Amino acid sequence: MLGRFFRWLFTPSARWSLFTLLLVGCVVGAVGVIGTQVMVHVTGTDEFCGTACHSHAQFVYPDHKTSVHYNNRTGVRAACVDCHLPHAYPAKLIAKAKAGIKDAYAEMRGTISTKEKFEAERWRMANIVWDEMKADNSANCRSCHDPAAWDVKKQSEDAVKAHKKFTNGKATCIECHAGVAHTEPEEPKAAPAAAPAAAPK
Ligand code: HEC
Ligand code: HEC
Ligand code: HEC
Repeated sequence: MLGRFFRWLFTPSARWSLFTLLLVGCVVGAVGVIGTQVMVHVTGTDEFCGTACHSHAQFVYPDHKTSVHYNNRTGVRAACVDCHLPHAYPAKLIAKAKAGIKDAYAEMRGTISTKEKFEAERWRMANIVWDEMKADNSANCRSCHDPAAWDVKKQSEDAVKAHKKFTNGKATCIECHAGVAHTEPEEPKAAPAAAPAAAPK
């Protein structure tokens, strides 16, 4: 059965001209490319990332809306995807697919479905993001904030001094600027020593 299918698949067509076959191939290809772009766009808005999952709509999005990257003087916003996904193809598509599967699975399991669970998981999740950003020298931050374009005369003395550490390769943006898009989570205190067993009455 399988053998017959493969023989049919690889036999030159007697009915369809090469032109027709090429045309069909081009149409299928174009639909695939355009369809992918549309999907990336539709599933890449803050509205989608912030509300498609109940847990994000409840905690993550409202928290983000109070940050400088959503609400600021000049009205320019950073979207979730500007910070959380690679910008280059095909890395963006691969990261998007992985995040989509992981998030859908976690949403079904209810990993951060309540305030208590969200607060308990926050430090772990934030560390994943910090590690990624340290690993690529905060590439996504630099896609908007280009140090080469800084007018240091307009920056505070503190900023200019601290930014030398970046220029010297001693520290990257996220090591000093955590919590610019969400409330910065606190490191959980070490688990208290097990309570002594209650004395028998
Ligand atoms: C899509 C572009 C974009 C990306 C990506 C981005 N930012 Fe920003 N950032 C902005 C804008 C716009 C502002 C607000 C400017 C204003 O105040 O009008 C801002 C403000 C800031 C400020 C000033 C905060 C304050 O309180 O005034 C810091 C610090 C900062 N960003 C750091 C970062 C870091 C670190 C990252 C990476 C995690 C990052 N940004 C990613 C666009 C971006
Ligand atoms: C060693 C720590 C450190 C590193 C690394 C660092 N910054 Fe800063 N940054 C600071 C400090 C401190 C300030 C001043 C904060 C203030 O004045 O309130 C500052 C200020 C800023 C501001 C606000 C400037 C203004 O005039 O309002 C932006 C935007 C910013 N940093 C972005 C970045 C980006 C992007 C990177 C990576 C390319 C980066 N920083 C790396 C410590 C750092
Ligand atoms: C300016 C960059 C930036 C933007 C925009 C941004 N994030 Fe984040 N996100 C971060 C960083 C950095 C962390 C690590 C924790 C921190 O420093 O606040 C983080 C952490 C998180 C976490 C882990 C939980 C937590 O609260 O720390 C989730 C979930 C998350 N982001 C989702 C989103 C979603 C959804 C959006 C859009 C509504 C968004 N982020 C927008 C940079 C960003």
